[in-house]
Amino acid sequence: MKQLLYIGGEWVEGHYETALFSPYSGKKLADVAGASLEQADLAVLSAVQAKSSMRKLSAHIRSGILERVSMMLAERRDEAAELIALEAAKPIKAAYIEVDRTVITFKLAAEEAKRISGETIPMDSVPGGEQRFAYTKKEPVGVVGAITPFNFPMNLVAHKLGPALAAGNSVVLKPAEQTPLSSYFIATLFHEAGLPPGALNVITGRGPELGEYIVSDERVSYITFTGSPAVGEQVRRNARLKRVTLELGSNSAVIIDGDVNVEQAAARCVTGAFSNQGQVCISLQRIYVMEEVFDKFVEAFIAQAKQLVLGDPLLMQTDVSVLIHPSAVERVLSWVHEAMQQGAELALGGYAKQRLLQPTVLLHVPEHAKVMQQEVFAPIVSINRVSTIEQAIALVNQSQFGLQAGIYTNRLETALDASDKLEAGGVLINDIPTFRLDHMPYGGWKHSGIGREGIKYAIEEMCETKLVIFNRS
Ligand code: SIN
Repeated sequence: MKQLLYIGGEWVEGHYETALFSPYSGKKLADVAGASLEQADLAVLSAVQAKSSMRKLSAHIRSGILERVSMMLAERRDEAAELIALEAAKPIKAAYIEVDRTVITFKLAAEEAKRISGETIPMDSVPGGEQRFAYTKKEPVGVVGAITPFNFPMNLVAHKLGPALAAGNSVVLKPAEQTPLSSYFIATLFHEAGLPPGALNVITGRGPELGEYIVSDERVSYITFTGSPAVGEQVRRNARLKRVTLELGSNSAVIIDGDVNVEQAAARCVTGAFSNQGQVCISLQRIYVMEEVFDKFVEAFIAQAKQLVLGDPLLMQTDVSVLIHPSAVERVLSWVHEAMQQGAELALGGYAKQRLLQPTVLLHVPEHAKVMQQEVFAPIVSINRVSTIEQAIALVNQSQFGLQAGIYTNRLETALDASDKLEAGGVLINDIPTFRLDHMPYGGWKHSGIGREGIKYAIEEMCETKLVIFNRS
């Protein structure tokens, strides 16, 4: 299979080709076109030229296109899930969930496209405003540059395209080089759904050049990026005065109070720690357990983790497959060994078998260890004992990140207190921080990012506000 670039509503040859291999089987999946910087320039130009046709499209037409994409994706659910499983090594069960979420994300964008509105401003509420009538309207920012990661190659693309197109923008999308096929699949659906040529452009290539080009191009008004904090920082710097939304990493934590159903909480925590091999920005990485239930919790957690089925992402029974690249295995195993040298106890895993990193559980991990401080992005979780909820909250907050955090407790006061004190964009009471639905505001505090996703919230960020004042005197 040969995958072409999508520029100006046409499928075009790249400047070069890169062979794409399945991270699990090593089989070749496609020859993927790589764009030159001239082609990146053309993609931006096409998006600029499509601005006026996008501005002219009425809300119900934009909504209709998004609705059709959602429906077409639902019809091609099996094909889409297989594509994600193949290129990202996401276990197919999880790939189906991602496709179903993508269907919803585009459906939400279709609905929100019809609700974009401003407000009337009571001008006479201050002296000098008499005889003035004013209102705000929301207008598209223009060209949106979108850079997306490998871990949710379809739904995180939908979280950029859905709101951008719903708001009447045009887009240049640069998906992760490890998972380009899901983006092109989505582009095919937009093409068939009747999106004006140039409103969506998808370019792929090796290395950071294309992303850097999009971020620094003056014709691009807005950047939406999901990826690592290090790259996010560069994006912010290179974007200069452009507006940016950055969805970056985390080392998400949950607190387990002494009064909860430990088996139930442990089962959810296993899901939170090991889904998609831990390659989730809100993957559960740190668990703080009250001392009275610590041993029981660890026992239940390890027992559940041992039930996970490892292997081929295309098999329905598989829970955990390979990481996106062998270098990630080396990196995180060195972090595990370092934590053990610093005093952590290995309770499960801690090694790779035929490139498959085994679900790994560390206990009593020093707070300064990399597995606690950095974003691990792998199936590795640390479980530590605490003697008070106050102490647990302080430890959760002792992080450079703040995307989502959770607490299991049956005490209302404790839940309310934690919701006040936890420093994160989302606080989950009686659930793991890994929980996300696609309409909820999603984004982080501290180094976890800037701005919010969740269709309605992303649309707000992808619109300019214009004030119109009528002078009646
Ligand atoms: C992410 O990894 O940032 C996205 C998580 C999700 O959408 O569930």
